[in-house]
Amino acid sequence: MSTLQTNTMTLIDNRDSKVYEFKILDATRGPSVIDIATLYKDTGVFTYDSGYTATASCKSSITYIDGEKGELRYRGIDINTLATKYTYLEVCYLLLHSVLPNKKELLDFDLELRHRSFIEEDLKRLINAFPDSAHPMSILSSSVAALASFHYEHLDMNNEKEYAEMAHRIIAKIPTLAAFAYRKSLGIPFIYPDIDRSFTENFLYMLRAYPGGKMKRTADGIEEIKAIEIKALDTIFTLHADHEQNASTTVVRNVASTGAHPFVAISSGISALWGRAHGGANESVIMQLEMIGSVDNVDKYIAKAKDPNDDFRLMGFGHRVYKNFDPRAKVLKDLQDQLKEELHLDSNLMEIASKIESIALSDEYFISRNLYPNIDFYSGVILTALKIDRPMFTAIFVIGRCVGWVAHLLEFKADAKSKIARPRQLYTGK
Ligand code: CMC
Repeated sequence: MSTLQTNTMTLIDNRDSKVYEFKILDATRGPSVIDIATLYKDTGVFTYDSGYTATASCKSSITYIDGEKGELRYRGIDINTLATKYTYLEVCYLLLHSVLPNKKELLDFDLELRHRSFIEEDLKRLINAFPDSAHPMSILSSSVAALASFHYEHLDMNNEKEYAEMAHRIIAKIPTLAAFAYRKSLGIPFIYPDIDRSFTENFLYMLRAYPGGKMKRTADGIEEIKAIEIKALDTIFTLHADHEQNASTTVVRNVASTGAHPFVAISSGISALWGRAHGGANESVIMQLEMIGSVDNVDKYIAKAKDPNDDFRLMGFGHRVYKNFDPRAKVLKDLQDQLKEELHLDSNLMEIASKIESIALSDEYFISRNLYPNIDFYSGVILTALKIDRPMFTAIFVIGRCVGWVAHLLEFKADAKSKIARPRQLYTGK
């Protein structure tokens, strides 16, 4: 055997004792990877990793997660700092430009998004064609794909201005499309964006306002949107803004890798996010808490979750990467405690949730499998307190996450070595 390099990993094929060496690429943080791009050419075999449990699909400098420590950073900055000290728009700017904005940059960015928040009247007509029973996620995914028909320029990959414009359109228009999808599902007239309101306040306004833009009138006066409600939703957007190579982001990158239009790639990400193992979990958590109905039934459902012959799972528990705690869940739990009094959180749902949480955190089944409450376990209760209906929960996740998808799209496009995503298989057929 010739002398092996120290920054490599050796593979011995025991069928013929041949030795292969593969380079180890070091990360700036976290695990290194083995570069197996030449594996098939050199050895004639592929790797098999269904579900990508040990596969790095790309190089990325956007978001870092340490699942063991429960750490999450966007562009190097800790999520707790970002969620408590910065607004969602500052976080968007950070994800897109790698640095936080100064005052002038933030103002320009904010104004740009406000002015791009309107959607075409023909697109509004398209949304109107959906049945009232349509789920907002279905309308959202379809209408974002349809945006490609309204803005079908052939984007020049090297033209930064064109790409920035596309990125701003996505971030600015998705809240409007989500609000329209919601109002369509209720069968009530759409509310146009109000450019005098901030990004997050405007979204709540588009959900809540009466036709003509008036807010609800009660015996005590006009029910304006409270600052604490804006802060809570803004924090939720920030916590969802990116999460490295999760299922929906991987879908966005893969669709973009074929050369498809960015809006279509984002629409595919929305569809991937809808599933209950991913972003759809926030809606499922509340459905599950409502189904459990009372603290007296919690033990029965915990037993179902632990039963290997029952496919029932506790929604809002477990994570592929976090094996200690989900740092986003920690921020939301603190926020939930803070909001308890002021926003009158649903006490029955909270009581059931807190019993599930305390049993699961001390139960051997959950501890041995590293199953902790994730972000979705807490977000639903807070969104309910913000008077947002359950079918909109995953659409809220989309609004937060779209900037992450856009940042990954831009990173993918900027990489001259990026290739079409084309995995192989272990054939088991005839
Ligand atoms: N309730 C009960 N048992 C569970 C749960 C759960 N929520 N999650 C995992 N397990 C068990 C599972 O049955 C398996 O047990 P065993 O080893 O005895 O067969 C073990 O834990 C490992 O499960 P897995 O399915 O191999 O784990 P995974 O890493 O592939 O799945 C997950 C991660 C998030 C899909 C899964 O934990 C789950 O389905 N959780 C509920 C849905 C949920 O809350 N999703 C939101 C994730 S956070 C938002 C986001 O980033 O998308």
